Amino acid sequence: MTDLVTCVIDGQSVAVPVGTTILEAARQLGRDIPTLCHHEALTASGQCRICSVEVEGARTLLPACAAEVRTGMVIHTRSERVDRSRKVILEMLASAADVSEAPDILAYAEEYGADFSRFADGERLTYPILDDNPFYIRDYNKCILCGRCVQACGSDMQFAFALTIAGRGFHSHIATFFEKPLPETSCVFCGNCVGVCPTNALQPKLSWLLAQGTDWNEVREQTKKSHPAKNMRKRR
Ligand code: SF4
Ligand code: FES
Repeated sequence: MTDLVTCVIDGQSVAVPVGTTILEAARQLGRDIPTLCHHEALTASGQCRICSVEVEGARTLLPACAAEVRTGMVIHTRSERVDRSRKVILEMLASAADVSEAPDILAYAEEYGADFSRFADGERLTYPILDDNPFYIRDYNKCILCGRCVQACGSDMQFAFALTIAGRGFHSHIATFFEKPLPETSCVFCGNCVGVCPTNALQPKLSWLLAQGTDWNEVREQTKKSHPAKNMRKRR
């Protein structure tokens, strides 16, 4: 028989199996908690903290996607403190990154009243768009460092380990080893990283080219030019 733990979420009591996260328990009750770095297919990393909730008696807010329910917990998924924390996280993300193509962030900003101009004097990401393969482009100006792509590329999905987080502080960024172009790494172009990216920092090359008005002939030329197999043939 499965061992159960009981807690109270927003005034409602719920019993869940040991090991259930606060996020899973809340969803069982139909409570909506925002998430960004969390993805059903990936290990919870607790990276972005947008899901943080208030637990009575706890010193800090707890990330609902990573913290497990304990017996007797009294949890508030919305409170003044929770809402303020989510609002500031959104404002800080938008101060550095281009979140204009991140639908979840835009929806949460609306819900929590985030003011994207609040930290307008903050430093912004200024990376060149990386277009080094025929399948997808990388625009790290849109990256919020949620880490999903690294997890999907690594031990959560593909085991290719082509991506990692490099640098420190504001200069932390997603990179390949030695910043090599993707065709020169262990990338197998599975597309899992593109599929889990919440901000469109990773985009299929085809849609990216078309969005810029590139016509089909040119799309075909560009794709041919940068195809890794062709480059490999050239090098021989
Ligand atoms: S590229 Fe996308 S998935 Fe990867 S860390 Fe940045 S926002 Fe997350
Ligand atoms: S969604 Fe929970 S920490 Fe990011």
